[in-house]
Amino acid sequence: MNRIVIQIAMEAEATGVIDRLGLREVADAFGEGLPWRVNQGEVDGAEIVLVRPGLDEHFGVDQIGTQPAAVLAELAVRTFGASVVINAGTAGGFAAKGAAVGDVYVSSSRVCFHDRRIAIPGYDAYGVGSYPCADMSEMAHELGLKQGIVTTGNALDLPEADLAMMAEYGGEVKEMEAAAIAWVCAMHNVPFIGLKSITDLVDGEHATEDAFLANLNLASERLTEELVDAIQWLARNGV
Ligand code: ADE
Repeated sequence: MNRIVIQIAMEAEATGVIDRLGLREVADAFGEGLPWRVNQGEVDGAEIVLVRPGLDEHFGVDQIGTQPAAVLAELAVRTFGASVVINAGTAGGFAAKGAAVGDVYVSSSRVCFHDRRIAIPGYDAYGVGSYPCADMSEMAHELGLKQGIVTTGNALDLPEADLAMMAEYGGEVKEMEAAAIAWVCAMHNVPFIGLKSITDLVDGEHATEDAFLANLNLASERLTEELVDAIQWLARNGV
């Protein structure tokens, strides 16, 4: 069975695809009283499992970032098994590299961490991670999507040290979960795909947080459109 696991961090990023594909909610899939949220369905003969980290019980916001992402990916892959994991969400882009708000990128080659600086031999490379992404160039070409190296950290802002790290490996799609999920996928030998819709330009004129909030709906709509197409493509062609 072709089983496509989709992992999305924010509820606002996920509602469109749940509605479009009619994915039904599965209560307590990973245990009672836990925040994780799961919806399931079928597209063109492929089984779809959509997972989100849910809300933080203390702070009442979506559990974004690498810790929930890694735990949830492990639960999803272990519980359901996966032919492929797609991490879909929003991201920051670079105007200098041709990004515009609403562009949707498919991950190319590797996904790296830009905020794990450990200047000790061996640990330096471990910090960057550099986990493989499935080669989806054919899909990107057919769907007219950009491709770029996705780069992960736990901050919305972009300090110089993070920028310097990104420059070393050509990171151009800045977000907060992909490398953590790709790390889990690499351990389980499951192909990983990042699909990221741009909400803000990190080298643009607007403050990142303002642009993010202003463009979240538009970027989520663009993400839904391209995610549905990508799922249909994967259901037909596999990875
Ligand atoms: N998600 C959307 N925009 C982002 C940015 N600039 N940095 C990290 N995660 C993001």
